[in-house]
Amino acid sequence: MAKMEVKTSLLDDMIGVGDMVLLEPLNEDSFINNLKKRFDHNEVYTYIGSVVISINPYRSLPIYTPEKVEEYRNRNFYELSPHIFALSDEAYRSLRDQDKDQCILITGESGAGKTEASKLVMSYVAAVCGKGAEVNQVKEQLLQSNPVLEAFGNAKTVRNDNSSRFGKYMDIEFDFKGDPLGGVISNYLLEKSRVVKQPRGERNFHIFYQILSGASEEFLCKLKLERDFSRYNYLGLDSARVNGVDDASNFRTVRNAMQIVGFMDHETQSVFEVVAAVLKLGNIEFKPESRSNGLDESKIKDKNELKEICELTGIDQSVLERAFSFRTVEAKQEKVSTTLNVAQAYYARDALAKNLYSRLFSWLVTRINESIKAQTKVRKKVMGVLDIYGFEIFEDNSFEQFIINYCNEKLQQIFIELTLKEEQEEYIREGIEWTHIEYFNNAIICDLIENNQTGILAMLDEECLRPGTVTDDTFLEKLNQVCATHQHFESRMSKCSRFLNDTSLPHSCFRIQHYAGKVMYQVEGFVDKNNDLLYRDLSQAMWKANHSLIKALFPEGNPAKINLKRPPTAGSQFKASVATLMKNLQTKNPNYIRCIKPNDKKAAHIFNEALVCHQIRYLGLLENVRVRRAGYAFRQPYEPCLERYKMLCKQTWPHWRGPARAGVEVLFNELGIPEEEFSFGRSKIFIRNPRTLFKLEDLRKQRLEDLATLIEKIYRGWKCRTRFLLMKKCQVVIASWYRRYSQQKKYQKIKGSAITVQSYIRGWKARKLLRELKHLKRCNEAATVIAAYWHGTQARRELRRLKDEARNKHAIAVIWAFWLGYKVRREYRKFFRANAGRKIYEFTLQRLMQKYFLEMKNKMPSLSPIDKNWPARPYLFLDSTHKELKRIFHLWRCKKYRDQFTDQQKLIYEEKLEASELFKDKKALYPASVGQPFQGAYLEISENPKYKKLKDAVDEKIIIAEVVNKINRANGKAASRIFLLTKNNVLLADQKSGTIKSEVPLGDVTKVSMSSQNDGFFAVHLKEGSEAASKGDFLLSSDHLIEMATKLYRTTLSQTKQKLNIEISDEFLVQFKQDKVCVKFIQGSQKNGNIPTCKRKNNRLLEVAVP
Ligand SMILES: Nc1ncnc2c1ncn2[C@@H]1O[C@H](COP(=O)(O)OP(=O)(O)OP(=O)(O)O)[C@@H](O)[C@H]1O
Ligand SMILES: [Mg+2]
Repeated sequence: MAKMEVKTSLLDDMIGVGDMVLLEPLNEDSFINNLKKRFDHNEVYTYIGSVVISINPYRSLPIYTPEKVEEYRNRNFYELSPHIFALSDEAYRSLRDQDKDQCILITGESGAGKTEASKLVMSYVAAVCGKGAEVNQVKEQLLQSNPVLEAFGNAKTVRNDNSSRFGKYMDIEFDFKGDPLGGVISNYLLEKSRVVKQPRGERNFHIFYQILSGASEEFLCKLKLERDFSRYNYLGLDSARVNGVDDASNFRTVRNAMQIVGFMDHETQSVFEVVAAVLKLGNIEFKPESRSNGLDESKIKDKNELKEICELTGIDQSVLERAFSFRTVEAKQEKVSTTLNVAQAYYARDALAKNLYSRLFSWLVTRINESIKAQTKVRKKVMGVLDIYGFEIFEDNSFEQFIINYCNEKLQQIFIELTLKEEQEEYIREGIEWTHIEYFNNAIICDLIENNQTGILAMLDEECLRPGTVTDDTFLEKLNQVCATHQHFESRMSKCSRFLNDTSLPHSCFRIQHYAGKVMYQVEGFVDKNNDLLYRDLSQAMWKANHSLIKALFPEGNPAKINLKRPPTAGSQFKASVATLMKNLQTKNPNYIRCIKPNDKKAAHIFNEALVCHQIRYLGLLENVRVRRAGYAFRQPYEPCLERYKMLCKQTWPHWRGPARAGVEVLFNELGIPEEEFSFGRSKIFIRNPRTLFKLEDLRKQRLEDLATLIEKIYRGWKCRTRFLLMKKCQVVIASWYRRYSQQKKYQKIKGSAITVQSYIRGWKARKLLRELKHLKRCNEAATVIAAYWHGTQARRELRRLKDEARNKHAIAVIWAFWLGYKVRREYRKFFRANAGRKIYEFTLQRLMQKYFLEMKNKMPSLSPIDKNWPARPYLFLDSTHKELKRIFHLWRCKKYRDQFTDQQKLIYEEKLEASELFKDKKALYPASVGQPFQGAYLEISENPKYKKLKDAVDEKIIIAEVVNKINRANGKAASRIFLLTKNNVLLADQKSGTIKSEVPLGDVTKVSMSSQNDGFFAVHLKEGSEAASKGDFLLSSDHLIEMATKLYRTTLSQTKQKLNIEISDEFLVQFKQDKVCVKFIQGSQKNGNIPTCKRKNNRLLEVAVP
């Protein structure tokens, strides 16, 4: 059941304890056992309050997937199993939502996983913060700065194949929404001695190997390099290749990253040139040459390498050669040049290589900063990530270890300060009484190192600057004097006699009791390393280089800026940068990741307890737990607390309606937890002892089991009951269906039987009835037959009787008729002979006529005047009668037809009749006009507003109003005119404007001429000498010629009582002004389709072609 539970707290399914403050009892063994148990179960993260302990698993665990990122996103710190993502999320959210700048301090010894942890933090933040093209580019640049810095600043050591040989602090800047804007990287103390010498089993910085393995032949040639590692003195040979590291592919990654970060091609080129120059410097060798004064002077053995370096870097060969042979010291305007012996020459060469490389590294950091710098000036929120070397305790510890351990002392100090401060602040915030906590304050150790007067660093600087002979021994002597009484300083030669007989402490060493343990430092090299001397001749030679990057790396070589003051020592520089760092960290909310290395073998699954124990001690983790649980070991806001334990009390289970705090109070009272065991803060409950928490957890577990059983019980009961109910319901349904089915079957059977029985009975009954009916029928038939016979006999008998009777009667009648006939014939014989013949003839004739008329009556045709049918003549002698009868009938029916006409129709037919008389068989146009009714007023002059003017000008009744073509006598072309015929006048008007062009009284019209053909041309001849005739006759053409001529004729007749002369001829003369022109109609030409065309042929002839 518990496995099914959704995680709501880190307390769920805990392996060991997820938070060390819950460890009971708390001691080193239980601490380590808890870590080991968790490590063995792949739980590499454990909390101490808000501090994350991370144990390097040395193998890839599936706990950094995008799904994990989503799981931890926006969840509370203690909600899920301890994870670096939980810390990252907490830091990012308080940065984004509460506007608190954050720093993430990652510490631990070499190989403990600091750099990996810092990358995990960065990738988590990149995954959860805003998205978008611009933001993604910023993220990409920030992330890609890592491979570049790792290539130049990391190296394989015996402890770590990818050991960071510099300290790194990176500020990631965000805007108010939490989107990254950019970043700033600070680097601390690159281990530059590695450039010229590496301990056994270690390598130089990765970049050297990467270039030689990954660069193309062409590129190598350009850099004057050879692929073979063994060609270079500066590359330690014994572990040039590292298992699982592909230098060539890493080289490509680095170049790609440089491009993404924004390095220009020429910059990348320059960087690699400097790297090549450093590599080649190692190959310059010196040989002694005796001089006349007996001193040895160094000379370069083989100048070829020097020449190539100078070609690569653009340095004048003689200048560099001189710088390797002489050293110039300037003091008070005096320049003194001394020659260098071989040892000094080697020293100068190595110093130059170290300086070149370390300055190049710093330049890279500055250049990256330029690229990733936030592009906006708005206020930024900052998340700092510090990945700095952890405490180092080796067999031989030198200046570097001293400096590193100093830095760690400072970090420890700030850790204690900030943890305590945070703890105290929480108590104040929650209103809980603060109890004093005993802890070791390492301020005293820091003071031993950094005190401005008596500190070790101050004394080292003093020694370095002191005139006279200065050696490491004089430095130690000085320490022995000044620090002898310090509790944490140990030296054989100090005034303090405690260590006089301590054989574990060699004479050339001093020991410091760091908070993390005692460390013995070899004093040899302290002065040199602190001085970090580069002969001025070399820096000047570098400045003179014709290579912009190298020139920029050695600004002090510029003679114009010559500075007699010594440059700050390495120690003081470091002290200053540590101070800046501390100041920076103090303004931020700290988050700690304490990295622990489980074994020395870089191997998975091995947990070396002694090694871990050592780290726990010097990281002060136990101390950390003690501080954390000095007052109250565990605290939790009221809501999640109530949510987690509410099932332990009846009042709070399943729901608590009041405020969460009251609920927790009721809960704790109910459980009877002693009052001294807990305290109520403002928003959190504080539990003094982990035991109480575990008791609560046990109770919860027990209760959850009970609840689970209860739920299971209820669930099972519910499930069985629902199943039972379902089955019952099913049974009822099935039973009812079955019953229905069986009753149906039974019913159908009964019904079938009933039908059978019924059918038998009905059959039997029917057969019986049939028998009876058949019998009856036979009886009836028999009776009928008998009756028929009987009636037949009767009828025949009667018939015979009637026949006899009729025969008798007939015989009587015949005899009587014969007798009468005889009598009549005898009587009439005399009359018949006189007139019977004529009478019979007349009678027959009358009879025939009667028959003819009666038959004709029945065969009469219809009353339509156009019906041509007439029955055939029956008798030849009636031929003329028959024809006459047909004529009379036709006239009669025509009269009948005419009688139906109205006056108007009569007029129309009169006109049509007139037209027929005038044109039938004379004008070919006539037949076509018969079917067309004469309308007269084709243009609606009185209604159409267009003709208003015309209407106003004519006050008589209009008989014809139609558009005609007036033929131009000059060329035969037609122009449209309105032709008006009134009672007294003929008028021609303009079609468009309606103005009257000509007006001719009917009395002045003498004749109308037209052709006999199928055309509409006609000429109106005017009386000679009349007013209208001055312009000549009109030659017009109209589609309604027949109608117009007829109406003109009739109107003239009624008005002047004279018949208008209508001449039908294919050639007639027309008067045009003074001339007479002949209009001639010719048949034929179909040129213009069916339209007649008129053409002026000459002065005397106008030809009309009629199709
Ligand atoms: N969380 C992890 N998961 C898997 N492997 C890891 C993890 N952390 C570290 N490692 C392994 O341990 C090696 C050393 O880790 P890392 O380089 O981070 O150590 P470091 O603390 O930075 O050491 P140094 O101080 O030398 O730089 C890595 O190269 C990697 O192989
Ligand atoms: Mg590292």
